[in-house]
Amino acid sequence: MTAILFVCLGNICRSPLAEGVLRDRAARAGRADRLVISSAGTGAWHVGKRPDPRSIEVAARHGIDLTGQRARQVDVEDFSRFSLILAMDDSNLRDLQDLRARAPATAGARVRRFLDRDVPDPYYGGPGGFEAVYDMLAEGCDRLLLSLFDRV
Ligand code: 4NP
Repeated sequence: MTAILFVCLGNICRSPLAEGVLRDRAARAGRADRLVISSAGTGAWHVGKRPDPRSIEVAARHGIDLTGQRARQVDVEDFSRFSLILAMDDSNLRDLQDLRARAPATAGARVRRFLDRDVPDPYYGGPGGFEAVYDMLAEGCDRLLLSLFDRV
């Protein structure tokens, strides 16, 4: 079992979409039962809220339902709960590394940036931004599934 946590700043735009996209693609690849998939934010502003309506909408256009998700803040326990913690950008990655310093030495999570470039924060941008984010996440999820299971 591989437990994957996607992390962005607010846990309402990028990481909930990443969670939904990976769950969808893992299910289609017949690998859903091998993965635990979740998301969280480094910040606490939106804790308890649904994903941003623009993320819900772009996901729905691709047949993915995000409406059951609720934002939460990442915490030190996550470094023990998850095997792989994937940051959306360098700023998220730095915040995670700071938090990791407070986790027990036994906490086994590997912490990485998800893609080889930042997934840009679409919160203040126009609607085109969310479709571009979706495309980046979909490509990254396919690559992740390939690296985990040798197939998409
Ligand atoms: P996310 O986007 O990190 O992709 O969820 C953001 C959502 C909210 C804020 C910033 C980024 N905010 O400042 O409230």
